[in-house]
Amino acid sequence: MTGDQELLDQVWLNLLYNSIKFTPSGGMIRISLGIRGAEIIVSIQDNGIGISEKDQIHIFERFFKSDKPRNRAAEGSGLGLSIVKKIVEMHDGRIEVESELRKGTIFTVHLPEAVE
Ligand SMILES: Nc1ncnc2c1ncn2[C@@H]1O[C@H](COP(=O)(O)OP(=O)(O)O)[C@@H](O)[C@H]1O
Ligand SMILES: [Mg+2]
Repeated sequence: MTGDQELLDQVWLNLLYNSIKFTPSGGMIRISLGIRGAEIIVSIQDNGIGISEKDQIHIFERFFKSDKPRNRAAEGSGLGLSIVKKIVEMHDGRIEVESELRKGTIFTVHLPEAVE
């Protein structure tokens, strides 16, 4: 695909750092890449603390952090995912989240194969 490599690096790093931050040690993080039709699909999956359905609606908003007590220690501004979403949309893509509390989270980024 064509895109801004530095901006897209921020997407991969933010998603990966979140997976690491919200997964207790000994957990699993899986990164997968694929092409489906004209779409490039990148998914980053963890088996960490997960995100409640109620919070999933808000995680892409600026400054949102789930305020579950067990998250309080985790540092961060709550800006990462809002930036990730902006960058993905600048590339005519979209980002989806699937998550279950205490089970884990999958973020999936869909990008068009070529952006003119
Ligand atoms: N992989 C993940 N597992 C569990 N919760 C997550 C994950 N990624 C993001 N979150 C939740 O979404 C919130 C927003 O993420 P983000 O915008 O990157 O902010 P920050 O990392 O600074 O807290 C996090 O505070 C956390 O509650
Ligand atoms: Mg973050």
